[in-house]
Amino acid sequence: MTAALQPTELETQLSTLQGEAQGAIAAAATLEELEKLRVGYLGKKGEVSKILGGMGKLDPSDRPRIGSAANDVKTAIQDALEQKRTALQAAQLQAQLEAETLDVTMPGAYRPQGRMHPLNSTIDRILDILVGLGYTVAQGTEMETDYYNFEALNTPPDHPARDMQDTFYLPDGNLLRTHTSAIQIRYMENNEPPIRIIAPGRVYRRDTVDATHSAVFHQIELLAVDEGLTFTDLKGTVKEFLQEIFGDIPIRFRASYFPFTEPSAEVDVQWKGKWLEVMGCGMVDPNVLKAVGLDSETYTGFAAGLGVERFAMVLHQIDDIRRLYTSDLRFLRQF
Ligand code: DAH
Repeated sequence: MTAALQPTELETQLSTLQGEAQGAIAAAATLEELEKLRVGYLGKKGEVSKILGGMGKLDPSDRPRIGSAANDVKTAIQDALEQKRTALQAAQLQAQLEAETLDVTMPGAYRPQGRMHPLNSTIDRILDILVGLGYTVAQGTEMETDYYNFEALNTPPDHPARDMQDTFYLPDGNLLRTHTSAIQIRYMENNEPPIRIIAPGRVYRRDTVDATHSAVFHQIELLAVDEGLTFTDLKGTVKEFLQEIFGDIPIRFRASYFPFTEPSAEVDVQWKGKWLEVMGCGMVDPNVLKAVGLDSETYTGFAAGLGVERFAMVLHQIDDIRRLYTSDLRFLRQF
């Protein structure tokens, strides 16, 4: 049997351990190191436990004293660990703050301010006015069927009016719409009179590009169908609208022809000292009403289609339609 350890020897071991632990903890440079020390000293198989393991060999009368000394050492080591952990965490935060500091005096990245394209602001302005007159905005698709773009609008395949609206045909027989008038049919198929709609959109034509023509441009369609609408209603609406957008500039109605209206008219306004056609209009042809199953004895309607580019040109005194598409900032910054 080995000789029982003397209490004083255990006490010496404990105090040596405490001093050693406190030194090691003070020297720890990282939280990971600190955690290893904690396990090494206070863990289940740690130094303090080892010493306490020797307690069984003690004289029972010595146990309370040594036990309480061991607890004090444990507490001292825990305190040292806690203090060091707080200090290391603070240092880590400080280092992180320094590393991630923003220099707010550095010049920022320049982002040019965007603005609305004059075509979009023109569309907005036109829609605003017409919504004010009681119209609701409707929409259609840029790819259309021959039926909606032509047939239902009283323009059968052999109709000469198709010549003026040659377009881009897709392999499946569909086409890129030549006008927003197709939306009239789509809307009337799904809605009962009274109808008051406006429909903006992009349209396509096989047109030779010049100062006032483009193969892709924008239109806004207008359609009103109700009981008892007359040409007077059409003319009053168009005049009111033009006055609202252009103010008091000279306008004229000119008799014209469209397959889907009867009678039909074109409206011109003064632009650069000349008459410029800005919209077509007329009373909805009874055949169009029939195509959507409306009784043309009960209902009449008027319709109009206007060219957005032309409106923008008159509004802003733009001399060439092509300026609207070239994305030249020197031009666009003026709006
Ligand atoms: N769709 C015609 C065009 O593109 C414009 C037009 C004329 C629309 C008369 C209409 C209308 O609704 O009634 O040239």
